[in-house]
Amino acid sequence: MQSPFNLDNSTAYLHWRDQKLANAIINTDELIVEIKDPLDLTSSEHAALLDRCQRSNMVIYASQVAMDEHMVQRFGKRFGLEHLDANWLAGEDGISEIRVIDNGTRQHYIPYTDHAIKWHTDGYYNPPERTIRSMLLHCVRPAVSGGENRLMDHEMAYLLLRDLDPLHIYALSAKDAMTIPERVDETDGVRPAQSGPVFSLDASGNLHMRYTARTRSIEWKQDANTLAAVAALEKLLASDLSHIHCAHLEPGMGLLCNNVLHDRSAFTDDPAKPRLLYRARYMERITKI
Ligand SMILES: [Fe+2]
Repeated sequence: MQSPFNLDNSTAYLHWRDQKLANAIINTDELIVEIKDPLDLTSSEHAALLDRCQRSNMVIYASQVAMDEHMVQRFGKRFGLEHLDANWLAGEDGISEIRVIDNGTRQHYIPYTDHAIKWHTDGYYNPPERTIRSMLLHCVRPAVSGGENRLMDHEMAYLLLRDLDPLHIYALSAKDAMTIPERVDETDGVRPAQSGPVFSLDASGNLHMRYTARTRSIEWKQDANTLAAVAALEKLLASDLSHIHCAHLEPGMGLLCNNVLHDRSAFTDDPAKPRLLYRARYMERITKI
């Protein structure tokens, strides 16, 4: 495969690496693209959004428009995003309301609390046929304080790890690198153990990353190379790299990304106006249509 992420193809990798670093977005402001109407993008707005996604696998759009779930879904379609992950926790149309929920099943899941969420990519516990390749996070109302997301292009994480030691990439590409143990849930039933690589390639050679910094409900392969690679990645994500962005989403703003690494800080709500985000997860990557 001609993919630069193929460890046997260092020529393609080095060429890609040069381009990636030359085009990298260091300044978070440059990640933000102002758009007037998300559902009627001008060609220059559309091109600017795609440009950021191409360079960094993500863009933060800033509009003044209060989109509902259906509008978010229509906005996604403008980027080739059609197939939503059928998450049993999601609303009827497959878009989740991310807010603090004090009752029912969802309260047991960390996205529906005001707690911090560690670095991860979405759907790391999904089976391969439900790989989340992109997602949209649209802010309706921010928290009074906190609730920011740190963001890192997973391709940049790959690049920095491969620079440190290609063995890290070998270890994290193993099919048994990371296992989510079987889970028995009162309402969800049994979710079987899910083993898989951190780094994998799709049929077109695009890089996918599956990761969580959680230490509970996750088992890393217990060999020296895997543990060294995981430690190197943790160190990278804990550093103050200019490739790590911090996004504070205001109403009408959102993140459109190819499932990049992200976290969330803890937050405090105004009970009268609690934090609300819509989240859509898709099977396909962002494409130019
Ligand atoms: Fe997430």
